[in-house]
Amino acid sequence: MTIGVLHGPNLNLLGRREPEVYGRTTLREIDERLAALAADLGVGIECHQANGEGELVDRVQDLGDRVAGFLVNAGAYTHTSIALLDALVGVGRPFVEVHLSNVHAREPFRHRSVLAQRAVGVVGGFGAESYLVGLRGLVAVLRERG
Ligand code: DQA
Repeated sequence: MTIGVLHGPNLNLLGRREPEVYGRTTLREIDERLAALAADLGVGIECHQANGEGELVDRVQDLGDRVAGFLVNAGAYTHTSIALLDALVGVGRPFVEVHLSNVHAREPFRHRSVLAQRAVGVVGGFGAESYLVGLRGLVAVLRERG
């Protein structure tokens, strides 16, 4: 079983981007922690970051045939991207929505997620740990579904 991990816009800046909101862990460190957890769980993992909405849609389509599910931090596209929602639903793979910050404790425009209505689950507010919680949850659900 392989899990696709998608990081959206500006997440390549983690470590120096608003550390008081997002912490000091870099994207590379997050991917390394995810790879270590994936190995523990006995699953494969493929991580990608893209700043463009179309690029993320392309990634979902590319990975769709190869992965059992997606872990997605779509960044700001979480709040706007029907195209990304359509891609995730279109490839028919379950996905978990992840956020470093607690979006509900922030500006009102971050309270709405276009993706959440079709997500298996949503995790946020735990910094880099959100990804690890999300991966555990996704793998558990996929295994339960067989
Ligand atoms: C984020 C929250 C989004 O609102 C924001 O646009 C991001 C990061 C998070 O991980 O907390 O880029 O998805």
